[in-house]
Amino acid sequence: MLIRVEVTLKESYNITFSKIGIALNKYKDKRLFLITDENVYFYYKNHLKETLKEYNVDYIIIKPGEKSKSEEKYLKIIHELLEKHITRKDIIVAFGGGVVGDLSGFVAATILRGVSFINIPTSLLAMVDSSIGSKVGIDTHYGKNLLGAFKNPLEVIIDFNYLKTLPKEEYNNGIAEVIKYYLIDDVSLLEDIKNNNLENIIKKSIKSKKEIITKDPFETYERMYLNFGHTFAHAIERHSNYEIPHGYAVAMGMDISIRLGIYFNITNKEVLNKLHNLYSYYDLPLFKGNIQELVPYLSSDKKAHADKINFVFIKDVGTPYIKQIEKEVFYEISSF
Ligand SMILES: NC(=O)c1ccc[n+]([C@@H]2O[C@H](COP(=O)([O-])OP(=O)(O)OC[C@H]3O[C@@H](n4cnc5c(N)ncnc54)[C@H](O)[C@@H]3O)[C@@H](O)[C@H]2O)c1
Repeated sequence: MLIRVEVTLKESYNITFSKIGIALNKYKDKRLFLITDENVYFYYKNHLKETLKEYNVDYIIIKPGEKSKSEEKYLKIIHELLEKHITRKDIIVAFGGGVVGDLSGFVAATILRGVSFINIPTSLLAMVDSSIGSKVGIDTHYGKNLLGAFKNPLEVIIDFNYLKTLPKEEYNNGIAEVIKYYLIDDVSLLEDIKNNNLENIIKKSIKSKKEIITKDPFETYERMYLNFGHTFAHAIERHSNYEIPHGYAVAMGMDISIRLGIYFNITNKEVLNKLHNLYSYYDLPLFKGNIQELVPYLSSDKKAHADKINFVFIKDVGTPYIKQIEKEVFYEISSF
């Protein structure tokens, strides 16, 4: 006997550009569990308490930084929520950067087999990238983002004003992902990046990501373009024991990808100068090390199939190109 179960996954969600007081109004009758980190809470404690004074909110405050995206922190939050008798009618709200968003979203995806989730990104990187696209997850001792899920939020709420307290280095960290959208998709971002035109930077980045993931939500092909620079970036993050922040590692990873592309005669040589010029506006780092040291860390990347990697190159600005590369090949490249 065969029983066929038809499942349709036609879900969508809104990205709302608004003050949170207005956007959250419709959830007033819900119990909210708001997860944030100590830095963000320091700046926005009074704002949150004032804006949400008529709401039923429990606050969960975590330490800032990638090390909080851990199995231990994940389980600690799960236990805290269960002790507080979370139900499926409640909503988990992430208020913070990509770390808070990824971790909270994974908690929301898994606790009680899934509760509702609202993402309020407060860093540039989270506004332009991590809050969009439904990927949530945590790191394990074997590598980055290896435990995760696709979890659509009820809504993503973006208020640019939160960026006023974001440290300059963290802003630059987010710009690395914007440069990625310029390189793989939207060449018109060049002037916006040079002029730091914030509204265009955020809206065009979101549009790029949205269009790519709508074509390929579960990363069978086009969505891999978004991994441009990330194969080596994740290795760099792990190699540095997460001391190098994600965006800076992506900047180095894109530098490596373009230099490798030139080495393999895939990438137009002019692209490297364009990249280095843009990095100089935002003090973004180039990769100075030796890629052989990073090769052992490539193995646990999800983009890897055994010993092969689906490596994302660009032929020119705006033209991504995927090629399978054997990991061993990277050991043979001494200078590039
Ligand atoms: N899910 C995805 O699709 C996706 C995509 C890209 C990156 N990511 C993940 O995102 C994470 C990086 O995100 P991030 O760069 O936002 O890191 P983060 O969350 O660590 O935030 C960076 C720093 O900025 C501080 N901060 C955030 N908002 C602030 C504000 N408004 N004012 C003052 N300080 C503020 C934080 O406390 C932290 O110290 C990584 O874990 C990366 O893997 C996920």
